Amino acid sequence: MSRLPIGILGCGAIARNAYLPSFTTHYSGEVELFACADAVPAAAAACAEKFGIPRVLSPEELLADPGIALVVNLTIPEAHEELNRKALLAGKHVYCEKPLALSRAEAIHLGKIAAEQGRMLAVAPDTILGAPHQAARKALDAGAVGTVRHVSAWCSLHIGLERYYRPAAGPILDFGPYYVGLMVFLLGPVTRVAALGAPVELPKEDGTKETFAPQTPSHAAVALQFASGATGTLGLSTDACIYESGIEVLGTSGRITVPDPNKFEGASHLKTYQEDVDLPADFALDGRHRGAGVADMAWALRDRRPHRLGNAFCVHCTELLVSILESLDTGRAVDLSTTCERPAPMAPRTAPHPFAWAG
Ligand SMILES: NC(=O)c1ccc[n+]([C@@H]2O[C@H](COP(=O)([O-])OP(=O)(O)OC[C@H]3O[C@@H](n4cnc5c(N)ncnc54)[C@H](O)[C@@H]3O)[C@@H](O)[C@H]2O)c1
Repeated sequence: MSRLPIGILGCGAIARNAYLPSFTTHYSGEVELFACADAVPAAAAACAEKFGIPRVLSPEELLADPGIALVVNLTIPEAHEELNRKALLAGKHVYCEKPLALSRAEAIHLGKIAAEQGRMLAVAPDTILGAPHQAARKALDAGAVGTVRHVSAWCSLHIGLERYYRPAAGPILDFGPYYVGLMVFLLGPVTRVAALGAPVELPKEDGTKETFAPQTPSHAAVALQFASGATGTLGLSTDACIYESGIEVLGTSGRITVPDPNKFEGASHLKTYQEDVDLPADFALDGRHRGAGVADMAWALRDRRPHRLGNAFCVHCTELLVSILESLDTGRAVDLSTTCERPAPMAPRTAPHPFAWAG
């Protein structure tokens, strides 16, 4: 019995600062760091040395290595789709940083390849596995707020770097996954989306009074229709810069306030006519750190169950994000072509049992 052997593809900031610290501590019982690779070999070598990864490979060697069961794709967004596709076609399971792909067709195609290959495909964020978000889901499923009618979220964070506003990034594709993922986890799939926002010039960060035209929208007000009948509103912006993000779920008999899904911290809060309480949170997987989604995939492989950030879920969330961009571009509402089940909630904590992967 062994741990799940993974290959890290892309050894930049998020690998160094988030995933590798998690994989060498919180999730070291689930995953084995088998190899790493980067387009810049020195970046891979530095990570290998710092985190004790035994093999430094080229990206091509990593994708072809039969010792690797799952590829964690932490490269830049522009490279995600191609590397995800190659990894799936090489028979690997794939966990990818956001976004999964940059178009609806690409996302759907990846989902199809994963299904044909019988491989798991997941995309960040995995913050929905965090304790406060799971606690909110548990309360909703128990009917704590009655029938859910609306969900609302606003995310704004000032980012002045001109290179951030390239087509593969910007607030819709970079922040959006956190909020869209949590909304679909809590309320289920979306059938229709409409987004408003006018292009603006943004100030350069070089101290001059010059401006630049972003290549992707910096502000969007989004309306969502869920298949359940509930509605949603979502603001994603780098222009309106008071960063106080979170999500509110409104039901026929109460409200749950959920902390920012860009983080794992905080507690969800339930308010009804009878109650005004923080929701308790104690779940089987220690899902409070980046990389929890990979640990869940390891458990899913061992237990022969679907992973929580399931293939259809990640394709649907990606389609939703690119549909927001499409709606901003065309000025029209977009009907989604994909759907998914809500990801299964986390099991409550029981007696600890050590991880063992059967291969
Ligand atoms: N930095 C953050 O705070 C942060 C937070 C959350 C999510 N993310 C996501 O993580 C991903 C990576 O972001 P980052 O900040 O670590 O970027 P980064 O630029 O620091 O690192 C990316 C690494 O990928 C490598 N790379 C690029 N193309 C490649 C290819 N084709 N093959 C192999 N290696 C390749 C680069 O050489 C680089 O070392 C992005 O999708 C980003 O959205 C980043």
